[in-house]
Order: sequence, then structure tokens, then C-alpha cells
Amino acid sequence: MYDIVHIPADELAVRAARWIADVIRATLAADGVCVIGLSGGSTPGPVYAKLGEAEDIDWKNVHVFLIDDRCVAPEDRESNQRIVRETLLVSANIPSENIVFPETGTPLPASANEYDAMLRELLKFRSADVVVLGMGSDGHIASLFPQDRAAIDEAERFAIHTTTERFAVHDRITVTIPVLRSATHKLILLSGDEKLAVFEEMQHSEDGAHRWPLKAVGDAVVMIGL
Ligand code: 6PG
Repeated sequence: MYDIVHIPADELAVRAARWIADVIRATLAADGVCVIGLSGGSTPGPVYAKLGEAEDIDWKNVHVFLIDDRCVAPEDRESNQRIVRETLLVSANIPSENIVFPETGTPLPASANEYDAMLRELLKFRSADVVVLGMGSDGHIASLFPQDRAAIDEAERFAIHTTTERFAVHDRITVTIPVLRSATHKLILLSGDEKLAVFEEMQHSEDGAHRWPLKAVGDAVVMIGL
């Protein structure tokens, strides 16, 4: 179910970027188009920066969306779209019409509803080709938090509003489990001993997706930087 790869911490960005670039190249060669979904947080920035420098990718046929974002201004240091803009999009020449980010500056719930509509349009004819996920030390993925049963069970919508009291930014916009589960390739990026311990706790736990939303996502490549 999980293809687990242990990687020296200082090689995680290069190795993960190479893996994503290979998937993008293969998908473009087969289908002429590739849709990628990117998480935020602290781990993936260097991965996206390296990915942007990958050669031989026809970026104009790549579409990118955010797995989740915090409801802050797009230039805020907590913003996930800021991370993608300041890394991948610095070097990768992805046309602006292919970039699907939520309008986190507009009020909820309208912004979550708009993002749902945007993703519905983007994913009308094909599922995401690759999604990049992290896992929080509490076990959350995207902005799907443990024990938020309604959010984790959401089966119709592509994007929803969730809240958390555990982190500085409480309001989030996140894709739902069906968007993640239907992706063709899934990459989980974990950095450090604490994340490894949480991942192992999940693997040994008999609790289901309400405690561990990742359990609802399905097969994945897991890269652990130590
Ligand atoms: C976010 C994320 C989130 C992230 C995990 C892991 O906005 O917080 O998209 O789901 O992937 O929290 O984050 P780290 O990379 O910081 O460990």
C-alpha cells in the first residue's frame, strides 16, 4: 500500500522533485496534459523550487492547484499559495490560466464555494495526475483534521471550508478526500523523526480515517527525509 523511501534529509528536495518531474514528463508524453495538486507547510518549498528547475518539461501544458490554503492574504507568510509562487512559479513557466488557487482574501464561505467550482471545472475530464501531501504531527493531511468527521466524510464537494484550533490560522480551504483518492499518483513528504513516528503510529493504529485521514487516500509513495 505504501512504497516507503528513506532519504537523507539533505537529499529530500532533489529526490522528491525528480520523482514529481518524472511523473509530469511521463503524463505529458502519454496525454499531452498534466494536473498537479500541491500542499503547503514547511517541507515542500525546497521541493517545488527544485521542480521548477527541471529540464524538458513543457510547463504550458501543466495545470497546478492547491491542496489547501490558509485563509490569509496571498502575500502572508502563512499562505500556501505564496510558497508555490515563490518556488515553483519562479522558474516554471506555467500560464496563469493554468494556475488554480483559492481566493483566500475573499470572505468565507464564498471563497470555499468558488474554489469548489474552480476544481470541478479543472477536474471535469481527468483526475489529478499527482498530488503532493504532507502530514501534520496531529495526523492531519491537507486541511482535513482528525475527528472532523463531516469534512473527512465529504463525498460530493471538491473543496470545503474547515477550521482548526491547533494552528495559528484557524480558517482553511481544503480539497476533499475524493479529490485526493482519485489522483493517479500520490506522494507523501515527511521530514524528520517526529513525522516518521506519527506515520508509524498511523500504520500500527487500528483507528480509521476519522483519526487518520491519510487512511482514506489509498496507495502512495512516502518519502521520509531523515
Ligand atoms: C498546511 C498543509 C498541511 C501540511 C502538513 C505538513 O497548510 O499546513 O498543506 O496539510 O502538508 O501540515 O506540513 P509540514 O510540511 O509543515 O510538516
